[in-house]
Amino acid sequence: MDKVLVTGGAGYIGSHACKTVRAAGFEPVTYDNLSTGWEEAVKFGPFEKGDLLDRKRLDEVFASHAPVAVMHFAALSQVGESMKKPGLYWQNNVEGSRNLIEAACDAGCMNFVFSSTCATYGDQDNVVLDENSVQLPINAYGASKRAIEDMLRDYGAAFGLRHVIFRYFNVAGADPEAEVGEFHQPETHLIPLMLDAIEGKREALTIFGTDYETPDGTCIRDYVHVCDLVDAHILGLTWLMDGKQSRVFNLGTGSGFSVREVIDHSRAVTNRAVPYKEGPRRPGDCTKLVSGSTRAVSELGWNPQRSTLDRMIADAWRWHQTGHYDK
Ligand code: UFG
Repeated sequence: MDKVLVTGGAGYIGSHACKTVRAAGFEPVTYDNLSTGWEEAVKFGPFEKGDLLDRKRLDEVFASHAPVAVMHFAALSQVGESMKKPGLYWQNNVEGSRNLIEAACDAGCMNFVFSSTCATYGDQDNVVLDENSVQLPINAYGASKRAIEDMLRDYGAAFGLRHVIFRYFNVAGADPEAEVGEFHQPETHLIPLMLDAIEGKREALTIFGTDYETPDGTCIRDYVHVCDLVDAHILGLTWLMDGKQSRVFNLGTGSGFSVREVIDHSRAVTNRAVPYKEGPRRPGDCTKLVSGSTRAVSELGWNPQRSTLDRMIADAWRWHQTGHYDK
């Protein structure tokens, strides 16, 4: 069975990717330092504990598994943290990715699928973003991901590393079978925080900012079901294995929901009250991030059928009630 090296395979999106990679007939080899991931989430293939900053360890893993491709999820990904500690993001994300990309090139593993983000676009005044929109990140997280995109282009030109870059919008939901799901420690994401608040596991949710220029004053995001998102990665892997050219794809649905709308849907789906209060803006937040997915749909044949807000909340709720790794 051909192997795929999945960095960050113990994390939220990476663990869902491993399940899908396995179902697609490849063996996912997880490379993860467990700084934000969970060993219990590595269920679908071998685990190699290691850090992206450890080049020697990366070389060993490439030598022992000879993967046909890399899926690179491992990264620090909190917008708020990146504003306070930008150095962490430049070291872990940018320098770590440089190590990984060089190790892949040296090992002759020339198919690379990269998790980038709509945070690379920055705040663009209520436009629907496409892959050609200008990239002007307003936080260090987005800047670090944009730098890695540039790096991939440079290594592609110099050494023939072929890559698919996926710019994610807001990933939500969980495996419908609840084998894996979203669990960050600390948690900063809207939907899991809200589900915790509903269950009384933490205090009321704070809405970060109610004075944005949106219809109800709260930020708007484009939410994508994690299983739809990882399906796109298999299509990206196939794209590269078929010898096609390097390409960037946005993964969004074209529909945005405000924080207040997410709260309303959560109340309806869970049939429980959502305790919340209104607070100030969080530094680094964009007003609205919504994508078209025309390119992924037309070129990759992506079909994101699970990405309705109610379905994402329902799957996250099921996981929330059954599957935490710390139970
Ligand atoms: N929000 C709140 N209260 C909270 C948490 C979040 O009001 O307690 C709001 C945020 O201000 C934002 C929305 O809910 O408007 C979503 O926030 P998340 O923290 O869930 O997600 P972000 O949009 O900040 O970031 C996520 C990922 C990033 C990715 C980005 C793209 O964490 O990696 O989506 O939008 F880049």
